[in-house]
Amino acid sequence: MAKRPKKSERVRAGIVGAGVGSVHAHGYSKLPNVEIAAICDIDAARAEALAARYGVRSIYTDYEAMLAEAKLDAVSVCTPNALHAPVAIAALNAGCHVLCEKPLSVNAEEGGKIVEAARKSAGKFMIGMNNRFRGDTQVLKKYIEDGELGEIYYARCGWIRRNGIPGFGSWFTRKEMSGGGPLIDIGVHALDVTLYLMGNPKPTSVFGATYAKFGPYGRGQGQWGAPVKGGAFDVEDLACAQIRFQNGASLVLEASWAQHCAGERLYSEVYGDKGGATLEPLRVYTEAHGRPADITPAYPNIGGHEAEIAHFIECIVENKPPIATADQALDVMKILDGIYRSAETGQSVSLA
Ligand SMILES: NC(=O)c1ccc[n+]([C@@H]2O[C@H](COP(=O)([O-])OP(=O)(O)OC[C@H]3O[C@@H](n4cnc5c(N)ncnc54)[C@H](O)[C@@H]3O)[C@@H](O)[C@H]2O)c1
Repeated sequence: MAKRPKKSERVRAGIVGAGVGSVHAHGYSKLPNVEIAAICDIDAARAEALAARYGVRSIYTDYEAMLAEAKLDAVSVCTPNALHAPVAIAALNAGCHVLCEKPLSVNAEEGGKIVEAARKSAGKFMIGMNNRFRGDTQVLKKYIEDGELGEIYYARCGWIRRNGIPGFGSWFTRKEMSGGGPLIDIGVHALDVTLYLMGNPKPTSVFGATYAKFGPYGRGQGQWGAPVKGGAFDVEDLACAQIRFQNGASLVLEASWAQHCAGERLYSEVYGDKGGATLEPLRVYTEAHGRPADITPAYPNIGGHEAEIAHFIECIVENKPPIATADQALDVMKILDGIYRSAETGQSVSLA
């Protein structure tokens, strides 16, 4: 049974996966009520290097041993996508609160197992959707909640790159380990933040297409992640889709790791009957005195990761529900699965 540390106690956090796990360690290190109690990576040298940066003495190469021995309250799951389900479920079953990196899993079936474990566990489960926590996103969310845009009926979003295939040949480009290419890797961020702004409407159908015009030819490699010589590339490098929702709204999504475009761009645009808005840059388009009026709201310079981790800890200590829930993450996975299925069949896929 997950306990809620008293306000006077420090939350003992463990991190599994020392890649983006370093971002989690940084976030935890900023919080006086958190102790990074253990770090685990099958790559012992990577775990040791991260532990050394934050003065962590408990280092593991086996997450089950860490869960059994390290007396943790909270666990960050920062492993390759295919390991999100086994690690998150083991941590929830061990009575820990879990912050799981995006995407929830490699597909909705695996993701569903996490959601089930989270329902049965007394621990909290939060998905690591850091873009929700950015200063600009939070300011726009408030505009929307205050009704400034009216009813949102259309949205567009995407994350596209010119040359940005991560870890060529590593787990990133192997479907078995990643679940897919840019759609599940970076498109998931654009999709999630846009659904959040739209109020997380229930998806009913998707129609999508995927392409692989760079990866199979060794082109389009980016800076993120270490390449693996001779490793496979069996995922898409571009995906696009239209998603329809129960409330009548629709959303157009694009995601690419490599594309002949101007350069990298992460964007989200929402359009309502009273106003529209974009993220990156944050603008609100509305009317004043019968004329179009553009607003450039000021917003705090808050990057998503630190605020996300602070929110996770606050939810544990204050016993509050996280704003990025397991059910929402599962809806995102269902949409992604549907897009991949639609791309294969050429047909629209019902999610109802
Ligand atoms: N939110 C974000 O901005 C963001 C950014 C990058 C990555 N991610 C997500 O974080 C996850 C990890 O990505 P990454 O870029 O850090 O990848 P990475 O390959 O750099 O790091 C993953 C680490 O997990 C370790 N690992 C693999 N199997 C393990 C196991 N069984 N037990 C313990 N450790 C194990 C690997 O040795 C590696 O060090 C992915 O799900 C990715 O989608 C999120």
